[in-house]
Amino acid sequence: MKHFVINNFKNIFGNKECNVYFAPGRVNLIGEHIDYNGGRVLPFAIKIGTYGVVALRDDTLVRVYSENFKDEGIIEFDLESLPRLDSYAAYIVGMIVKSQVKDNSNVVSKGFDLYLYGNIPNGSGLSSSASLTVLIGYILNDLFNFNLTRTDIALLGQSTEKYVGVNCGIMDHFASANGKSKSAILLNTNSLSYNYVELDLKDHIILVANTNKKRKLTDSKYNERRSECDKSYDVLRNYYNISYLCDLKVSDLENAEKILNDDVLFRRVRHVVSENDRVNQTCELLKNGDLEGVGKILNASHKSLKNDYEVTGVELDTIVAALQMCDGVLGARMVGAGFGGCAIALVKKDFVKSICERVNEIYTGVVGYEPSFYEVEVGNGVCKL
Ligand code: GLA
Repeated sequence: MKHFVINNFKNIFGNKECNVYFAPGRVNLIGEHIDYNGGRVLPFAIKIGTYGVVALRDDTLVRVYSENFKDEGIIEFDLESLPRLDSYAAYIVGMIVKSQVKDNSNVVSKGFDLYLYGNIPNGSGLSSSASLTVLIGYILNDLFNFNLTRTDIALLGQSTEKYVGVNCGIMDHFASANGKSKSAILLNTNSLSYNYVELDLKDHIILVANTNKKRKLTDSKYNERRSECDKSYDVLRNYYNISYLCDLKVSDLENAEKILNDDVLFRRVRHVVSENDRVNQTCELLKNGDLEGVGKILNASHKSLKNDYEVTGVELDTIVAALQMCDGVLGARMVGAGFGGCAIALVKKDFVKSICERVNEIYTGVVGYEPSFYEVEVGNGVCKL
């Protein structure tokens, strides 16, 4: 891949000395829609993501070309008057703005030529945009000696997403920055403390099934769910000593329902609190090597995301139901923000082929177009290659 991206860089920008970087996407094993509610999440970095090849310039121009958005050609802007862009390059401008705002000794003093290539399908829920922001943060840090930690880069990525229009949590950026091979990251999204949990799946793999229903989080109900949680928290904090919704326990739910007296808000809270509990259970099950148990938790998570949090839709529900009915599947659920994108399933290696065939048949019959499948591997966080 390194040679492929360097060659492409040279074809576009000429034969200059350049460096290559990579930032991964992520899969979240469990802990969905709780990273903005102070919950614990269990994502891992994957071996697909975004590659960047960069060469410094002597002036203040930034020129960017993405293999994934060829039609947009070379996008060019000047560091001295950063524009508001309406394309993937908005994430690059955002990272420059946010890193300079974080510390005014951080100065992007020179322009650069940047070639990008991502092998995560856009809008699939595997964090293509998080990998792009983390990649840019890491490159800026390396080129201009900003002294940013990996966690700083993740936080800048998160605030850049807000700048672009999604009030997302920290999970995706954190996983892309801090991923470690063979491990998931148990991240406390309240304190940002974390530890690695060994992902020993024995003769199983995580199969990703893409509904191929693309969605942009900016026009999904993501921000709406977030404000429903904020609204619920504002009521419940008057009754409980909590800093986040995830500080509530499952045993508090019965009383919380009476306090909220609102079916929709209560169901959102029930998802959040029960999902946080499922993360804790999953860690225990992994420790004991109980993959059957993990599979059941994945199924329960999907049910909660479908019925209580209402972020699935016919495509995700169809693909998950099809996965769950196949031999060799221990459990399955939607992954990421939902509304389209991907599902994950914990499956026995020997059954992968038959599962893909069966799910393809069922899904295509109901939805009218085919899904795609990927066997994801656990990888490391952002790096220079
Ligand atoms: C998106 C967001 C994350 C997280 C997930 C849902 O991927 O970027 O911060 O909220 O949705 O768990």
